[in-house]
Amino acid sequence: MTAESISRLIAELRRIVGQNHVLTQDDGEDLRAWELDWRGRERGKALAVVRPGSTQEVAEVVQACAAARPALHVSIVPQGGNTGMVVGSTPDTSGTQVVLSLTRLNKVRQLDAGNMTITVDAGCVLQTLQEECEKAGFLFPLSLASEGSCTIGGNLGTNAGGTQVVRYGNTRELCLGLEVVTAQGEIWDGLLGLRKDNTGYDLRHLFIGSEGTLGIITGATMKIYPMPKSQLTAFAALPSLEAALQLLGLAHEHLSAGLTGFEVMGQFALSLVHKHFPQQRIPFWHEPRSAPGRPKPTDAPSGGSEPHAVGSVGAPYFVVLENSDNESEEHARAQFERLLEAAMEAGCVTDAVVAENLAQAKALWHIRESIPLAQAQEGLNIKHDISINVSRIPAFVAETNALLMKKFPGARLVTYGHLGDGNLHYNVQAPEGEDQKRFLAEEEAPMNALVYEVVDRYRGSISAEHGIGSLKIDKLPEHKSPVALGLMHRIKRALDPLNLMNPGKLLHTENH
Ligand code: FAD
Ligand code: MLT
Ligand code: ZN
Repeated sequence: MTAESISRLIAELRRIVGQNHVLTQDDGEDLRAWELDWRGRERGKALAVVRPGSTQEVAEVVQACAAARPALHVSIVPQGGNTGMVVGSTPDTSGTQVVLSLTRLNKVRQLDAGNMTITVDAGCVLQTLQEECEKAGFLFPLSLASEGSCTIGGNLGTNAGGTQVVRYGNTRELCLGLEVVTAQGEIWDGLLGLRKDNTGYDLRHLFIGSEGTLGIITGATMKIYPMPKSQLTAFAALPSLEAALQLLGLAHEHLSAGLTGFEVMGQFALSLVHKHFPQQRIPFWHEPRSAPGRPKPTDAPSGGSEPHAVGSVGAPYFVVLENSDNESEEHARAQFERLLEAAMEAGCVTDAVVAENLAQAKALWHIRESIPLAQAQEGLNIKHDISINVSRIPAFVAETNALLMKKFPGARLVTYGHLGDGNLHYNVQAPEGEDQKRFLAEEEAPMNALVYEVVDRYRGSISAEHGIGSLKIDKLPEHKSPVALGLMHRIKRALDPLNLMNPGKLLHTENH
């Protein structure tokens, strides 16, 4: 890669997007925001950060990078809000990758009330989309704690899940059309917004969840829903994970399609919120009797109302539930009360509270949504974003907890997640006082191996909603069927024969 070919490409990129929208280290720019992944685990080195302002400019940037080959071994890393959890949106350390940031493509193009769709640029921040819908009396149900900065393009690129999947599905289920710049720099306008279209392969589904490895999503048409008359939130304390499952069954029975959220939180996960955000009031929270600031090492093992290891009188598990109702708040409250009474009678809930107003509901959700941030404040951790058939989750947790505690005594299990759709964040924090860097370097691989071995036995997934990125790229071949993997490689080769799009993420493609 010669200096001359680099400066030729940079000049061409500047011609396309404008002088101010190509950032390079050579010009003294600080590229950290684009080069460092959200968890701060890895920092790459970008050849440049390019910020196109239109779909046409995105197409020309891709054409320019393709044309620079083979003299320059450049490739492209699409980036939205850079909130991804698997190091998928940041460049590697080679200094040959262009980060293509979509954040200037941030317009809401059209809200079609009759068709119940909204069409937006891919760089539109999720929260903006939600707010635009709300202004027009609609709900855009995708909801993640990162919604203030993640983009719809990134949500589609990762097929994000979040807290409303139990009712509305993943981002894939919400998408009715895409506009994509292909790896050849063509523009595919698939923004039809049709609910029925059987004219062959559904191309949109190839790009959704492809993590920027097949093309660049520049626009999307998404489903919207009538804003429910009432959205009520409850917070419940439970004696075990089995009880949480029982509550889930009762919630489906009593609320039917009104059940829009069902999140579980283990006690240690909440103790991290309590420790790092003490201003938040956690219902039914009792201080463990251990020293302040020293949360108990593990969530209580599943399998009944086992007393807490360090004598906390709090419950081992908590659930946040949401009931969305199209009739009235009174109707929603009456339904919730009947559900919680039935749950208490059945012994699966020991305490429960229903938010009285929006502020209280937000506060309850905020507790749940603060767990990833509290974990980050506590230090380095090992994440397992797994899914298992919902019915088997208690058995999975009991078995994996026991195996982990035996092999990694002192490791602190942070168990929480989207129980309603079988997705657990089964994360592990280093033992207290332990050198965290050493913990990560030495324990991450064996710990992943242990957890994923059980996931395989339970026929689960090693990535429920965060994707593969570069973090799990070595793991994928160990857990995906060779036939499925072969098909994925063939799709990648067919759509991106130059291997221009986000190499080093999702699939090993060096030999393409
Ligand atoms: P980025 O991080 O920028 O990119 C993610 C991937 O998508 C990369 O591979 C990138 O190359 C690709 N990509 C980005 N834009 C495009 C595009 N326009 N075209 C093609 N490919 C593209 N995720 C969940 O699923 N559920 C959660 O509940 C959840 N909660 C979170 C909470 C917090 C506090 C944080 C920090 C993250 C959370 N995430 C969650 C992870 C993350 O927010 C999601 O993966 C989100 O969808 C990423 O969007 P982004 O715009 O930040 O994408
Ligand atoms: C969540 O559900 O909070 C997220 O997916 C983030 C995480 O796993 O930390
Ligand atoms: Zn999640």
